[in-house]
This record gives sequence, structure tokens and C-alpha cells, in this order.
Amino acid sequence: MRVIHLSAEGVSVVIATTNDGMPEIVHWGAAVTSAEPDLLTFVEAENRTGMVGDSDVPYRASMLPEHSRGWFGAPGLSAHRGGSGWAPRFALRSLALDGEEVGAGVTYADGGRVSAVLHDAYAEIELGLEIDLTSDGLIRARARVRNTADADTAAVPLEIHALAVALPIPTWAQEVLDFTGRWGHERIPQRHPIVRGDHSRISRRGRTGLDATLVQAVGTPGFSASTGEVWIGHVGFSGNHEHTIERTDGRLHFRGGESLLPGEIRLAPGEEYSGPWVFGSYGCGLDGAAARFHSYLRERSRSSRRPRPVTMNVWEAVYFDHDHRVLVDLAARAAELGVERYVLDDGWFRGRNDDRAGLGDWTPDPVAWPAGLRPLADEVRALGMEFGLWVEPEMINEDSDLAREHPEWILRAGPELPPRYRFQQVLDLTQPGAFDHILAALDGLIDDIGVSYLKWDHNRDLIAAGHPRSGTPAVHEQTLAVYRLIDELRRRHPDLEIESCASGGGRVDLGILERTDRIHPSDSHDPHDRFGILRWTGLLVPPEMMGSHVASPVSSVTGRIHDLQFRCAVAFLGHFGIEWDIRDLDATDRRILSDWIARYRRHRELIATGRTVGAGELDATSPQVRGVVAADRSEALFTIVTPTTSPDTIARVRFPGLAADRSYRVSVSGSDSFGPPWQVPAWLRESPALGGDGDGEREGRGPVIAGAVLARVGLDFPTFHPDRAAVVHLAAVVGS
Ligand code: DGJ
Repeated sequence: MRVIHLSAEGVSVVIATTNDGMPEIVHWGAAVTSAEPDLLTFVEAENRTGMVGDSDVPYRASMLPEHSRGWFGAPGLSAHRGGSGWAPRFALRSLALDGEEVGAGVTYADGGRVSAVLHDAYAEIELGLEIDLTSDGLIRARARVRNTADADTAAVPLEIHALAVALPIPTWAQEVLDFTGRWGHERIPQRHPIVRGDHSRISRRGRTGLDATLVQAVGTPGFSASTGEVWIGHVGFSGNHEHTIERTDGRLHFRGGESLLPGEIRLAPGEEYSGPWVFGSYGCGLDGAAARFHSYLRERSRSSRRPRPVTMNVWEAVYFDHDHRVLVDLAARAAELGVERYVLDDGWFRGRNDDRAGLGDWTPDPVAWPAGLRPLADEVRALGMEFGLWVEPEMINEDSDLAREHPEWILRAGPELPPRYRFQQVLDLTQPGAFDHILAALDGLIDDIGVSYLKWDHNRDLIAAGHPRSGTPAVHEQTLAVYRLIDELRRRHPDLEIESCASGGGRVDLGILERTDRIHPSDSHDPHDRFGILRWTGLLVPPEMMGSHVASPVSSVTGRIHDLQFRCAVAFLGHFGIEWDIRDLDATDRRILSDWIARYRRHRELIATGRTVGAGELDATSPQVRGVVAADRSEALFTIVTPTTSPDTIARVRFPGLAADRSYRVSVSGSDSFGPPWQVPAWLRESPALGGDGDGEREGRGPVIAGAVLARVGLDFPTFHPDRAAVVHLAAVVGS
């Protein structure tokens, strides 16, 4: 028996090799400190002999469940070779920890990578498994299969239907929270008890999906943002994929992997297929589990390298109507407000007057931009801002020079082109010619114009996406080709930042996020909906990697009207920016907006490094809270929003994550907007305005409240008016 005990950041993963060697995670959860004999006894204590109604060799749940050993749920590997070899039974060949073969007994490590290689000689399949426990306490696991048949004798390829990794969760976790959504409203929560069977969320859209669940969170009954044990599963892949919670006899697990199209993976002898990384995060409450994803991304992202520049995106200001004079005017006004990055959105390239034409022709439109984009980019830089550009490299309009020259570069499964989506088709980036063409076009733009930031869009689901010559499914390879394209651009341009956008939040997953620096969580900037979109996307993505724009008073998606204070307060805990025709602003709005920008610039480091917390989000009548708390708990920021019209006029709000033994000075934004003054409690009325300069705090003004009161007792918050928000800053008083 070989047992490996990995532990990091309060998490233990205990992996045992039983059943002739298929690794089994016998514990994933709270840290355990056990002596070696205890752990061995524990692993062996689970052994059973045959009994009525079960196999004589009862099944032990492994990471890649095998039907051949008596598992009746979905097998980890579903494959066959012309109808045979469909029930593989793997034997262990090697088991290593960080490259060193592991011996009998218990091996301990603070994190590290476990790799197992297994083989089935009859089915002629080699299986590789890798399990990391990262320094953040996050599990990453993936599987790979190789066709080991002899090239001279094996005429039939090994066809892979599914390869999914199972991460076990204790059965006392009894509720699941996951998400659905649509264009303009991503990440709508749904929560229910776990029942026997599979609860599967499969995306077949060829991109992660606007309705994709993002994560599946499973927890003990009543778990909340800060309470209960929670296990979060996530598949880090931007193509078709599966998140499943599977409950069977005595077992519960999260199963994740790529969702393959018929015949998509057919391995010739010697070829192999690797599934995506499947992630698991355990923690106290949703926020405890989410924090591990945040630190994982913060270690990798370019967004952690320097303060997040306040951004102006011109999409909702001008849409396709590109006029150089207007765009320079917007840039000048943005710079005056304190904006630091200016992003030119869709509409700049050849033939792009609306969404019907031009995708694929990545040179500036000669009518709108006779001198190209360099003059605008230079003017933007002269105003002290960086220049960013929108692109949609994977797409092609049939009405484009590229489609006319290379109709054979459009994905299709048969003679007919797939139905259009927003008048567009998908370019086959798996073809070297198409790949090189797009790479050269993007590379050229970056160099010629001096682009420091790309907003990388993807505005359609993939339908019948086959390789044009053969018609065979192309989603898997297309997804990997996009990764290669981004990786190569980043290699060539080490400072380039990239935003992942797909009609809003249609491509949010750790596959894309490991190679991009922020996402566009939604096309809806309506703060009423946006608060939840940010909160729930924030289970995976840290706040500074979520674009968070203040748009016009009338939401372009919902038509709702909101005041500027509410729009700014909701956008604050993110990567703050503007997406609005700021030529419309009167002097008061200009002052309000520039004050918010100054506040953001003052507090952005805390937003980009703090630990995310939340409260109230599952109670429709309660105010909802999103916050970030400094690692040393010396300060915190909370956005509190009022519920839609509530039977209460006042509600207690707690501020999670603060140090109970310290005291905090309070400053607040917009305390005059919560309704009639007699409804507004003194702490809110008397707190100084949250400033961009920190004056109130420096001068020692404002109430000081004990951390224990704030975190455990809470303060009353007015709920008289719906759609109001405050940003509350709490700074620990020196010496407390
Ligand atoms: C969809 C994006 O989500 C928008 O922000 C904008 O970039 C449009 N595409 C442009 O076509």
C-alpha cells in the first residue's frame, strides 16, 4: 500500500493506491495530522469483503472510476477500439511525487505533484494521472491516455468518448450551488439539495458559455459565504466541457472533463489525448474556497504586476460610429477625469460599419481611419493613457476579403456553412495557414500601433464546427489552437495584457484565465444585476480581474435607470472603468465620476490584493455585501446594496473578515442617497465621505467602531429605497 499525504494552507489530500494501483483520493478537505500507522489503518479500514447485492471485490472509488472493477456510475475513461477494449482495467506502472518514485508506507509533502502511469495490456491503453496540491491549497488533476497498440497491427484507432477526473466529497455535503445565465445576465445562482444520480452541467457551445455554470459548489446544509464546509469544482477549459455532481451508493464526487463530440478524438498508435485541468477548492464557506482560486490566479496573471489602470472603453459611447474627432474628444475628456487606459472597441477595421461585415480583415478601415490608427494611439498616449484595441481573432464574416480569399478556412461539418450567429462564422485556426495569418495580423497591429492591451472577443457559439475538408469535429483542436495563438502573442509581447470577452462573460474559465489578464463579466452594466454577476463570477475570479465599468444612466441591456452614485459604488470593487459617452456629462456628474476615479486609484491596491468576502446574497430581503479585506486586516472595503423593496426599512449588516480585537475608523460614500434622513442611522450620517485623498482618516474624523461589533454584531443599514449602495472603508486605528 502506498499512501501520499499532501497538505497546504489548511487542506489535506490523502491519495492511496489500492485496487492494484489506481490512485484513490481517500480524503480531500480539512487538514489532518496523523501519524503514519494511523493513516495506513484508516485506508485499510475502508476495505470490505463481498456481500449480498455487491461484487465479491467491492469497488473503491478511484480518481478515474473503472467499470471493469464494478463501478456503475460514469466511467472515468470511456473508449473503445472498433468495439473492443471498452472496459479497461489499469495496473499501476509508476507512482511518483515531484518526479521521485514513491515507496510503500506513507509519504508526506507540503504540496507537490503526484504522477501515476498505468497500463492495460489487453486494451493497449496507457493512462497518465497528475494531481497537484498547489501552495494555495488548490487541487489540480488531469488525465491523459495513449494508444500503445503496435502501429503495424492496429488498423483501428482508439476512440475516446470521455475522460473525466473524479474528486471525492464527503456525503455530509448535501447542497449544490451552481449557475446559469444568458446574454446580458450571466451567473444566475441555482441551489438545491443533492439527490441520487448525476447533476450535470454540460456546455456544448464550443466556448465556455454564457449559461455555463463557472463552478459547482457543494457544501454542508445551509452553507453560506462564510459558514459551512464547501468544496468547489471547476474545469479549466474554454471548449465543450462537463461539470457533474454524482451521488451514488455511499459516494459523492465532482466529475469534470472535456465533453467530446462524436469521433472527435481517435488516436492512432502512439498518439495521446490529454484532458484539461480539473480544479478543486475546499474551504470554510464559499469565500474560503474562492480565496484559493484568487491566489492561484494572482500568482500567474500579468494583472498582479502593476496597479490596474482606470479604463475607458468606447463601445457604449460610439458603437460602430467611428469618427476620429469624436474619439479624440472622448480621450481628452477621459484623461481629464483620471482615466489611464483607453480601449478602442469594435468598428475600426476594414468594412466594419455594423456587425454584418469585416471580421477577418484586420487592417484599419480606410474610410474611417485613412491614416490608420497610429495617430489616434499617439494622441491617446500624449494624453498620458495606454492604448488598447478590440479584436475578435477567431471569427470571420462571410462578407470579408478573408472569406472571399479563403472560403476553405471556415469551420463546417458538411457542405453547408453552419447557421450564422451575429452574421459571423468561425475561422479554422487549426489550419496552419489561417493560424499564421491571424498571428501575423495581430502581431503587426501590436507593433505598428503600439497596442498594450487587447480586448479579445468571441461572439458566437460554435455550431457544427467541423474541419472543412473532412467534416470531423474541430472544437477540441480549435480550443487548443486559440490557446497556442494567445501563448505565442504573449511570448512575443511580454507586457501585453489581454481581456477575455465573449459577448460579455461567455469565456470565463481557468484555461483562458491562465493566459489572459482580466475578463468582461457581462455586457450588462446595470448595477442592479451587475452586483450579483460580480459576486458570483468572483467565486473564481479575483475582483481586479473583472472589468467593472460605469455606463450610461439608462442601461443598454435592461433599460433600467440608475443614479451615478449607485453605478459607481457597484463598479468600485473590480477593475474600475467607464463605458459611456462622457460628452453627455454635466459639471456635477463630471465631479462625481472623477471623485470615484480618485477613490479607486487610492484603494486599488487593496482591491487587487485583499481577500474577497460577501454576505446576504442568498436572502432576497437583505442588503447584500461584497468586500475585500487586507491580508493583515488593517483595512477593508465593503460595497453594500439595498434589496428590492423590502418589508423592512432597516436591516442589520455584518462586515465579515475583520479583526475582532481591533477598532476601525469608518468612512462612507454617498450616505445622503439612502432615503429620508430620518431613516439613515447615525454611523452612516456621521461618517466622513470616502475620499480619494484619505483626508477624513488622516485628520482622525469619523466614528471608530470595534472590529468585534462590526464583524459579529453588525450595524443597521437603511433598506427604505431599493437600488442604493454605499462603499464603506474601514481603517484599523493605529495601536488597536
Ligand atoms: C460584445 C462585447 O461583449 C461588447 O463589449 C463589445 O465589445 C461588442 N461585442 C463589440 O462587438
